[in-house]
Amino acid sequence: MTRQLFVTTALPYANAAFHIGHMMEYIQADIWVRYQRMQEENGQPRVVHFVGADDTHGTPIMIAAEKEGVTPQEFVAKIAAGRAQYLDGFHIAFDNWYSTDSPENVDLSQGIYRRLRDAGLIYTKTVDRFYDTAKGMFLADRNIKGECPVCHSKDQYGDNCEVCGAAYQPTELINPYSVFTGSTPILKPSEQYFFKLSDPRCFQFLKEWLNTPGRLQPEMVNKVSEWLGENGEKLADWDISRDAPYFGIPIPDAPGKFFYVWLDAPVGYLASLKNYFEKKGLDYDAFLNDPSTEQVHFIGKDIVSFHLLFWPAMLEFSGHPVIDKLKVNVHGHLTVNNEKMSKSRGTGISPLRYLELGMNPEWLRYYLAFKLNSKVEDLDFTGEDFVARVNSDLIGKYVNIASRCAGFIAKKFDGKLAPALSATAREWIARALNGEQGERQAAIAASYEAREFGRALREIMEVADVANRYVDENKPWLLAKDETKTAELHEVCTTALILFRQLTVMLSPVLPHVAARVREFLGDAAYSWEDTKGERVHAGMLGRTIGAYSHLMQRVDARMIDDLFDKPAQIAAAAAAPAPAAPSGDASDIEELAPEISIDDFTRIDLRVAKIVNCEHVEGSSKLLRLTLDAGEGRTRNVFSGIKSAYQPEQLIGKLTVMVANLAPRKMKFGVSEGMVLCASAKDEKTHPGLYLLEPVSGAQPGMRIR
Ligand code: 2FM
Ligand code: ZN
Repeated sequence: MTRQLFVTTALPYANAAFHIGHMMEYIQADIWVRYQRMQEENGQPRVVHFVGADDTHGTPIMIAAEKEGVTPQEFVAKIAAGRAQYLDGFHIAFDNWYSTDSPENVDLSQGIYRRLRDAGLIYTKTVDRFYDTAKGMFLADRNIKGECPVCHSKDQYGDNCEVCGAAYQPTELINPYSVFTGSTPILKPSEQYFFKLSDPRCFQFLKEWLNTPGRLQPEMVNKVSEWLGENGEKLADWDISRDAPYFGIPIPDAPGKFFYVWLDAPVGYLASLKNYFEKKGLDYDAFLNDPSTEQVHFIGKDIVSFHLLFWPAMLEFSGHPVIDKLKVNVHGHLTVNNEKMSKSRGTGISPLRYLELGMNPEWLRYYLAFKLNSKVEDLDFTGEDFVARVNSDLIGKYVNIASRCAGFIAKKFDGKLAPALSATAREWIARALNGEQGERQAAIAASYEAREFGRALREIMEVADVANRYVDENKPWLLAKDETKTAELHEVCTTALILFRQLTVMLSPVLPHVAARVREFLGDAAYSWEDTKGERVHAGMLGRTIGAYSHLMQRVDARMIDDLFDKPAQIAAAAAAPAPAAPSGDASDIEELAPEISIDDFTRIDLRVAKIVNCEHVEGSSKLLRLTLDAGEGRTRNVFSGIKSAYQPEQLIGKLTVMVANLAPRKMKFGVSEGMVLCASAKDEKTHPGLYLLEPVSGAQPGMRIR
């Protein structure tokens, strides 16, 4: 039967940039989508719509916008504008990136709600909620802090204690206070809207839905079944309303009430699809009602209850056609060196820094894919493992085949591949591609389909191993030296390139850019999985004139990995820096202001942008680095700076900084210092270590004056 797909990933909150965990989920989904797009249905590529959106609503975003003095809409628009650099940077091919703060989402969410109400699954109840009278706002559990009722630790959140781990109601906190104003909240009655998940219909439905074969990973079926209880007794009703002021979608016929963000967030999948279909002139209703449509969600294990209890129940009882088409794939979390990622421990990896360091996004795609399987398991990033895996597989096995053979085709055969192959060469190809049971491509396809990417790549690398063995045994570099072996050389290089092309087709869901370059080099059209079958393996390659080969991928330089992580000295300082939002911030942590100066005093100091053209250790000094600075003067300056504790020389080379340019030269033990660079540091460097060299925002040029 024809399949058409609608693929989504969890919608990220629009209050922060993407972290590496987001990229892992998107890469996982993108690989699956690209594999699906290589499938053919009646000779045409399979239809796959891959959509995402920002999850925009809720109190944290409203408060963050308020702090910046902008509207929530402006705030989320700014975050949304930053998404493309990550998605494009890692070759993630969403068809549409939209927003839950959109007319489509309002319509769809309110429509679903009305139908749930008509089905008798919505009721209201008045409950006492904490209210900040100074701010005029009901407080979410996380907006309230106080003393833990169990271990008496101070400043614990309203839902659980981070010290002893106890979970409780906000009303149990001792001396509660509002995180916004510090005032003591009062209890105020508020009418809340509930979705009746405890209704026996929900249990009956969920039990059957979860157990539909192929819908969920088996471990998820087990886990979620436990949450239902034997007879649904564990299913509790869900408070879906929040009181104004709230950035969200108004509840119909309920003035001053808004949907809790988690009600409209998953509707955002549909809103993004609808918006995309409107832009493309496609029929949204027809697609969702088509029996051949499937929706596949990729989500992390932390948001399973929303996606496997509330969301399906909402879809079912609002009569939504997508409910029967939904499949959910849950992944584990990304850990670094087997620990949860943490900025403060320096194990956070910023996706943008990765790209800024010039690291190849396809290295990360390959590495993550190699570690991914279809289970809900955490996945670990280890620097050494990353370097070894990428260099050994992608460079040592895959790219190596082309780089060892392509040159001979260009030099000796005018770029033309051999017109025919001997039986021996064909046997090698068959051996590499078919494995022992003759079913290797099908097995690889099945692994991609089942999201067993690691297994798929291990099999693909076995093909590469056979191809390399073939090259090793036939030694084209020796054949090239012997005039009588020209025909053999031609065949060996042609055979190796046919295998290289097969590897590329099979790797293309993971390495889309490399695949595009290979297509250009070989003169191929878009790759389809059908190209791995039967005659299409050789057809068209024999006798073909190919283009010039240029190197496809560099090795990973292990030194890049050091720069990928936050530096411990910087982290310690960051942790020690006074938190800007804390109302209780102790002013004594901040250095006192220096006596007032006039503008003339200030202009006597000539500050210039300077480029650090070189930086090195100073022999015999435990504190200093020697900087060579270019401030656009037609000469460089030698400047010593006491920043050795904070930076490695290679971290600074090439960066711009700020230099005091008219400071009298100073003779030091190690030479003359012809200026000074500027750093930020805390008042007490002993308790709050860390130095931050100033760096202008990009665009500044060496020599520019700072005024
Ligand atoms: O956990 C999160 O980051 C949520 N913003 C995910 C929402 S997924 C969907 F429901 F929109
Ligand atoms: Zn406690």
